[in-house]
Amino acid sequence: MSESTIQGALESLRASVQAVRAAPSEQELERLRIELLGRKGALKGLMARIPELAPAERAGFGKRLNELKAELERAFAERRQQLAAQAEQQRAAGFFDPTLPGTPPPRGSLHPLTRMTEELLEVFGRLGFELARGPEVEVPFYNFEALNIPPEHPARDPTENFFLEQQSEQGPLLLRSQTSTIQIRVMKERKPPLRVVAPGRVFRPDTVDATHHFQFHQIEGLAVEQGLSFADLKSVLLLFAQELFGEGQQVRLRPSFFPFTEPSAEMDFLCWSCRGAGCAMCKQVGWIELGGCGMVDPNVLEAVEIDPERYTGYAFGLGIERLAMLRHGIGDLRLFTDNDVRFLEQLG
Ligand code: DAH
Repeated sequence: MSESTIQGALESLRASVQAVRAAPSEQELERLRIELLGRKGALKGLMARIPELAPAERAGFGKRLNELKAELERAFAERRQQLAAQAEQQRAAGFFDPTLPGTPPPRGSLHPLTRMTEELLEVFGRLGFELARGPEVEVPFYNFEALNIPPEHPARDPTENFFLEQQSEQGPLLLRSQTSTIQIRVMKERKPPLRVVAPGRVFRPDTVDATHHFQFHQIEGLAVEQGLSFADLKSVLLLFAQELFGEGQQVRLRPSFFPFTEPSAEMDFLCWSCRGAGCAMCKQVGWIELGGCGMVDPNVLEAVEIDPERYTGYAFGLGIERLAMLRHGIGDLRLFTDNDVRFLEQLG
């Protein structure tokens, strides 16, 4: 190694001390440390070449290298301290670094009942049913009278309903006990042909337990046209069931009674868990009862001034909680209103 090479190498190492003192960040400082003092760094490189020097020069060169090494180490320590102090100062002063990634806000999700409702509306939408809504506070005309529910009917008993203390011009006020109210509202406002589905919350003074609540949700369907028959009702329910649970799905209608339909039926879906074989979910029956349906009673059509000689209609209603519980294997109705985030996250 010639004298000038040695001098050059020492000069550039000395110049690096300045770079260390001016390093703008901890990362840059660390990069320099590896470059200069690391195992394969500049200093080690020069030390390794000492044997190339004339014997007389070796001691002097080594000494200068050691001095430089000490100087560099001091420079690193000082700069590291300065940078740390700076960072602390900025933090204390509330320094805002716009280049740092932000703190993501926790994400919410749709309530399982909202999701179930949206799915039902989607399916019925594809079957040609429009969305309709009605108020949660009603008068007896919409909740009972127009639905052909006579004054002495047990469903009208004050202990079976939430009557409000306030009265309205149209009579007493109560929280609706069924979404069938919306049938009347729609038929009063519009003339057939019509096809609507109406989801909503309903209220009954039941004692809360795993399968009962004072509030729950129903979805109501109504179609009124010329020439609609029970076969139209059954085929719409079957299409609906198959959209929801697949092509093998079947629907069974059992004779029943509702004041606002004639004839009336209970609607069962083939148990989607055992496909009819019998299991715990369907209590070994093979079928799952999901709601009621029937042909709109002529008295109902008359109450809303639709000519029952000209038009016929069908209606159906089902409970949304019950469907969601069976679908997702939820064992307790109260989970829907507890708002436990673990439940909501699991199904959201
Ligand atoms: N409103 C009834 C209930 O709450 C359910 C129902 C039965 C609705 C038959 C209907 C129907 O539209 O046709 O129990």
